[in-house]
Amino acid sequence: MPVSLIILAAGQGTRMNSERPKVLHKLAAAPLLHHAMAAARALDPARTVVVAGHGAEAVAKSARAFDETAEIVLQDEQLGTGHAVAQAAPLLADAPGEAIVLYGDTPFIRAETLEAMLEARARHAVVVLGFEARDPGRYGRLILDGDSLARIVEYKDASDAERAVTLCNSGVICASAKDLFTLVADLSNDNAAGEYYLTDIVALARARGLSAGVVICDEAETLGINTRAQLAEAEAEFQRRARAEALENGVTLTAPDTVFFALDTFIGRDAVIGPNVIFGPGVTIESEAEIKGFCHLEGAHVSRGADVGPFARLRPGAELAEDVHVGNFVEIKNAILDEGVKVGHLTYLGDAHIGEHTNIGAGTVTCNYDGVMKHRTVIGKRAFIGSDTMLVAPVTVGDGALTGSGSVITEDVPPEAVAIGRARQVTKPGLATKLMDKLRALKAAKQKG
Ligand code: UD1
Ligand code: CA
Repeated sequence: MPVSLIILAAGQGTRMNSERPKVLHKLAAAPLLHHAMAAARALDPARTVVVAGHGAEAVAKSARAFDETAEIVLQDEQLGTGHAVAQAAPLLADAPGEAIVLYGDTPFIRAETLEAMLEARARHAVVVLGFEARDPGRYGRLILDGDSLARIVEYKDASDAERAVTLCNSGVICASAKDLFTLVADLSNDNAAGEYYLTDIVALARARGLSAGVVICDEAETLGINTRAQLAEAEAEFQRRARAEALENGVTLTAPDTVFFALDTFIGRDAVIGPNVIFGPGVTIESEAEIKGFCHLEGAHVSRGADVGPFARLRPGAELAEDVHVGNFVEIKNAILDEGVKVGHLTYLGDAHIGEHTNIGAGTVTCNYDGVMKHRTVIGKRAFIGSDTMLVAPVTVGDGALTGSGSVITEDVPPEAVAIGRARQVTKPGLATKLMDKLRALKAAKQKG
């Protein structure tokens, strides 16, 4: 059965106190919206429709960055969750299969939970994701009727007896696309908030002889983000889970509480991650690689057996092949380091390709930027770049070539050549002592006079 996904993301999120639409605030280096989309990815949705309103352009761009086939519909005025879903009708009302409604500000829903909801559809026309709330507060209450769901009542509209119910609505709802859009089209806004409540489709379905049911998940999964404080709490919670998962997957974390993961960080078995390592988006660390303390990585791929850090920075496009060694105070950006390359200390490699088993001396810099354009540096295999070499790109150093320490390399170096680009040393015997004596005499004369 194909699945259509509808993600509600039109709200402004007033309580974030922000210019930025709520769903674009970041959790684990990814917008909240991507977390919702990632949860549903396991269902391999045939269609993903994001309902956008506040900051719609930015929301649309972000949705497409995650999934270029994502479709966007506009909800100009936020007249309620039911109204929001109705905006997707022109795209999905005739879609075959299932429809699942998610909120863009609820990042922790698990794929397994969504799968359980799809399974429950075998028994019910409408399936709602509920949870037992420690503090039910203003959540909608799920009113049961035996094993079925009779209706959902919003807090504002609930009686005291209904407010005493602790089984609450998460907001996630699943039905066939056909039923969902038929029901949503018939909603009214005759309630305490004057909104079109998506939740009213349960009572509507029942009135039409359709059944409704509940799948229950842990409250932690339904955590929605409304404030910066909740965003910070969610970050802590995400990191707790990510660390536990990494350990479970056979990754060594020497100081787990100091390692920060992104939504899409992938780390292979038997990799070792030292203290205070920060993963930005798009990092893959393969098995048996080691990332030592205080490294920042983003958009980087580290192959098996490579070691990085301490205090190294890998930026987008850093591609380290097997057994590469990157040491302290090294920055790598948009550069491929072939197998066995060594870059031990104090180096910047940007827009470069370094051939296998080449050694890059301390303090080497690829001068890749001329103030207007970026240029490439290509270094062959088994080359030896002397310490403090400035490689003024575009420039090529051939296989097995060598550059003298302190060289400024502005011309291509053929294979197996030595290139030296620095002033020749001049040595003057005894001059140091003479100079110092002269300076001391000058100082003494000044103090007297
Ligand atoms: C909703 C549910 C409530 C549930 C709670 C869980 C309804 C009527 N109520 O209440 O039962 O317990 O979520 O958190 O559904 N949105 C739009 N367009 C709109 C309105 C909302 O896109 O016109 C989006 C919001 O941006 C948000 C989500 O839908 O991501 C939920 O809206 P919100 O106003 O927070 O609903 P609640 O009042 O919390
Ligand atoms: Ca809410």
